Amino acid sequence: MAQTAEPIVRVKNLSKTIGGKKIIDDVNLDLYPGQVTGFLGPNGAGKTTTIRMMAGLMKPTAGDVTIAGKSITSDFEDAMTNIGVIVENPEMYKYMSGYKNLLHFARMHKGVTKERIMEVVRQVGLENRINEKVGTYSLGMRQRLGLAQALLHNPKFLILDEPTNGLDPAGIREFRVYLRSLAEKAGVSVLVSSHMLSEIELMVDRVAVIQNGRLIDIREMKEETRPHHYVEAQPADRLVPLLKSKGYTPVPTGAGFIIEEKAERIPALVKSIVEGDLDLYAVRPYRRTLEDEFIEMTGGGQIAQTAAK
Ligand SMILES: Nc1ncnc2c1ncn2[C@@H]1O[C@H](COP(=O)(O)OP(=O)(O)OP(=O)(O)O)[C@@H](O)[C@H]1O
Ligand SMILES: [Mg+2]
Repeated sequence: MAQTAEPIVRVKNLSKTIGGKKIIDDVNLDLYPGQVTGFLGPNGAGKTTTIRMMAGLMKPTAGDVTIAGKSITSDFEDAMTNIGVIVENPEMYKYMSGYKNLLHFARMHKGVTKERIMEVVRQVGLENRINEKVGTYSLGMRQRLGLAQALLHNPKFLILDEPTNGLDPAGIREFRVYLRSLAEKAGVSVLVSSHMLSEIELMVDRVAVIQNGRLIDIREMKEETRPHHYVEAQPADRLVPLLKSKGYTPVPTGAGFIIEEKAERIPALVKSIVEGDLDLYAVRPYRRTLEDEFIEMTGGGQIAQTAAK
């Protein structure tokens, strides 16, 4: 498992203050080869700012980031040879072909051959359109070109800031499969920020959650989450006090409620619902989504924008 390997990226006590305001506050994070890490947080949490510092696009106020042991502050050029990045919308020259754009970016790195360019073009599935002007590309095609550009020099670490913005469901699925294979086959460490929690859930091995500039949680996706159950009984205005009297905090969902409880204690609960003369309609295990957990961690509300997408 990846954790036994040395981290490829180490973020150490990273902070950023702008105009007297602490935007990033002492962030520590290790990223491993072959792992896809989701970077989650509400709007304004500090994802892009952290990513910009990691990619060498902005100077940290304090702390450091090392990539394959090279510091972005004291060994910038060497650190940059191992990193590929797409920050928000990739900038491309619209009047040039996709291929010319890649050729242009290839010059910024040592040893990127024309063969390598075409290999990356095939990997991102752009071979049929690569000689057309970028101005004629769809959003999804521009995203693919951005990805090709970020991968040209075979980086060990790939950072993507909201990469699925504007992709259709098929495009998102393809992108997800592609990122997974990059991690699993090529051993690339991938950091991907997103608001689309349902999307990120399917693509990442672990998530790092940032809020108000602080890293508030890092968790493995495979970790057992706390068991929950869905309970539905009528009248609901008597079910709620009953659940509360048993020490639960019922969260309304559809016609019923979600409570945190393990299976062994459900029969006793069912018994007291029936003895309380309520009509029981449903009790079943409930698997919480990453979105449920995220809302709990960040205190809710701020994810509304995502739900609308
Ligand atoms: N150059 C700047 N000057 C002042 N404040 C800034 C600057 N850049 C970012 N900020 C502030 O830092 C905070 C974090 O911004 P950042 O763009 O990193 O958030 P984000 O997590 O990427 O949000 P989003 O999900 O909206 O992309 C915000 O409050 C933002 O207003
Ligand atoms: Mg951002």
